[in-house]
Amino acid sequence: MKVVVISGGTSGMGKGVGELFKKKGWVVVPFGKNPKDGEEMVDVTNEAQVENFFNNVKEKYGKIDVLINSAGYGISGAAELSDFNETKNLFDVNYFGALKCIQCALPLMKSGAKIINISSCCAIFPMPFRIHYCASKAALSMLSYGLKMELSDAKIQVAVINPGDVKTNFINSRIKNFNTNERYQDRVKNAQALVEKNNSKRMSQEYASKKIFKIVNKKKLKAMYIIGRKYKVFNFLIKLFPINVFLKVSNKIFGGKKSIKQQQS
Ligand SMILES: NC(=O)c1ccc[n+]([C@@H]2O[C@H](COP(=O)([O-])OP(=O)(O)OC[C@H]3O[C@@H](n4cnc5c(N)ncnc54)[C@H](OP(=O)(O)O)[C@@H]3O)[C@@H](O)[C@H]2O)c1
Repeated sequence: MKVVVISGGTSGMGKGVGELFKKKGWVVVPFGKNPKDGEEMVDVTNEAQVENFFNNVKEKYGKIDVLINSAGYGISGAAELSDFNETKNLFDVNYFGALKCIQCALPLMKSGAKIINISSCCAIFPMPFRIHYCASKAALSMLSYGLKMELSDAKIQVAVINPGDVKTNFINSRIKNFNTNERYQDRVKNAQALVEKNNSKRMSQEYASKKIFKIVNKKKLKAMYIIGRKYKVFNFLIKLFPINVFLKVSNKIFGGKKSIKQQQS
């Protein structure tokens, strides 16, 4: 019996990858904040709920073979004008939520077990008016790299997966802040409009979930994976140019300097 625990297993990629594991005969234990199909109800920001959930997993199954941290959401808006508590909550879910699950899961993991953190390409590529999300995912990626080193003697593998843009409920659950001032004027609104305009070009959830499933089943995990050809190319390019050049390009494309009407023409 193989056991996979999935945070954010109630929707999107977490749910999709869980279904693929189920087909392979694994015991899948998905959870999320708003379960719809009999998953467990656990808010990763609620420490007692997380601890209780993992205690139940211990009692029922006695072990965890794979933990996938997929719970997360996005926030957009100008960093200067963001709500402090809203930003802290983002880190509570995207970073501390994953950390809490890892801390609770590790005592149930033995040699051969795997921890998979679903981060984002935003962890690699800084984007204006989305920077808190980028920062929360960069923190998660760094945690993954640290754990990979710390757990290597225990033979517990750790990998971070950075999907590009995927068509999931992520698009609707993202908190969009349009607050602006004379410094940014229309740029916040324009940057958001560009994201909305590109929604139709996103990868399908099924495609991304299959890729994640394939990665998790690899014998030897690399430290980091990217899902999406476009972002693999960006990752190659970012290594060739100094960060100043990359920031200029990112600001030009995503910084909302052009109105959406100009971009369409
Ligand atoms: N979609 C993209 O373009 C994209 C790109 C890169 C990275 N990602 C990352 O991929 C992961 C999965 O996202 P997705 O695209 O599959 O979006 P999704 O369909 O919105 O799934 C997000 C999942 O996170 C869960 N979640 C959110 N807050 C939670 C909390 N406080 N406690 C427990 N669970 C919580 C949700 O649970 P409920 O539905 O039950 O509330 C849901 O299951 C996220 O970490 C996201 O940041 C997404």
